[in-house]
Amino acid sequence: MVKTKVAGLGYYVPENVITNNELTKHMDTSDEWIQERTGIKERRYATKHQETTSSMAKKAAEVAIKRAGIEKEDIDFIVFATLSPDYYFPGCGVLLQRELGITGTEIGALDIRNQCSGFIYGLSVADQFIKTGMYKNILLVGSEMHSMGLDFNTSGRNVTVIFGDGAGAVVLQPTEEEGRGILTTHLHSNGTYAEELAMINPGCHGGYHDEVKKDYGYPDVNELGGMFATQNMFDNGYFYPNMNGQLVFKNAVVKFAQVIKEALAKTGLSQDDISLLVPHQANLRISQFVQKSFGLNDDQVYNNIQKYGNTTAASIPIAMTEAWEKGKIKEGDLVCLAAFGSGFTWGSALIRW
Ligand code: UT7
Repeated sequence: MVKTKVAGLGYYVPENVITNNELTKHMDTSDEWIQERTGIKERRYATKHQETTSSMAKKAAEVAIKRAGIEKEDIDFIVFATLSPDYYFPGCGVLLQRELGITGTEIGALDIRNQCSGFIYGLSVADQFIKTGMYKNILLVGSEMHSMGLDFNTSGRNVTVIFGDGAGAVVLQPTEEEGRGILTTHLHSNGTYAEELAMINPGCHGGYHDEVKKDYGYPDVNELGGMFATQNMFDNGYFYPNMNGQLVFKNAVVKFAQVIKEALAKTGLSQDDISLLVPHQANLRISQFVQKSFGLNDDQVYNNIQKYGNTTAASIPIAMTEAWEKGKIKEGDLVCLAAFGSGFTWGSALIRW
């Protein structure tokens, strides 16, 4: 039976290191608070005007393509997960295609908008395409440039200190090797909490949703246009992400555990079989909570949020690549991926390497 294997993987993080102390120059926060609540010591910020979500994706993709031993022209489909795209539309998938110089092949490019779960959603979609025989070399990328859209005033500190920039990529191919490849993927969502971790402007909601209480100064009902971005939004900085951190945290620890158990149950495996858990790097405390609830030892969980912060759709492929480079993922290993985030959306995957 055909399964999907990770044939190559790569990541890119910008050179510019931003320490917690650097952030204290802009907002009322401290290295101690950030480390204690999140585990983060530093993060990377892309260089303005020189780097963007799709340019970082290109760098990660080139490494993954090389390691897969293929040419970029062999890529037959692109899946791109991000919440910080270069443009509102078109999505980053086509921009990555152009950055890679493979527009000539006119392959399809799909954009995924599932925030922290974006990489796992993309992996699941790509897995179905490969198993049906539709594609043979899918490039899946998660890339984020959060630094351009954060509130660097104290009002934004609970969100801003967490996030960082970076990109991770994998090349996915079919394999018929017995037991190898993606064994299962699981995707979930609950829109009840859509606004609890969100950046709702600019958008077309126009105050429609009861959950959006703010009056952004929308035009009269008979006026044409003008709802997407209002002067009031510009004047008051209503373009920043907001997060109900405690609610997200409480849901995250429950759903991470549930969705990992679901994957193990589906495959008849147990937590003892997990060689390495690569959780979405949301908060070191969340990862530690999940580790403890499964009784995993330190060697069975990979975390790098300390260096990069939360890079949303990029966090799993960056962490997975780093772990692989350090020899922490070897042939035959059982790798478990899990994520939870805005939407709420969450998911898991089990891969026999
Ligand atoms: O990947 C996407 C999914 N996101 C997550 O998984 C994030 C989940 N949530 C979290 O990681 C945590 O909720 C945070 C790290 C965001 C916040 O930690 P917390 O322990 O839940 O803090 P809190 O929001 O309850 O705030 C506690 C206090 C507040 O002050 P008062 O009201 O007690 O005086 C905040 O104003 O900490 C204050 N605070 C800060 N202080 C210094 C919030 N952010 C900061 C900050 N520096 N950066």
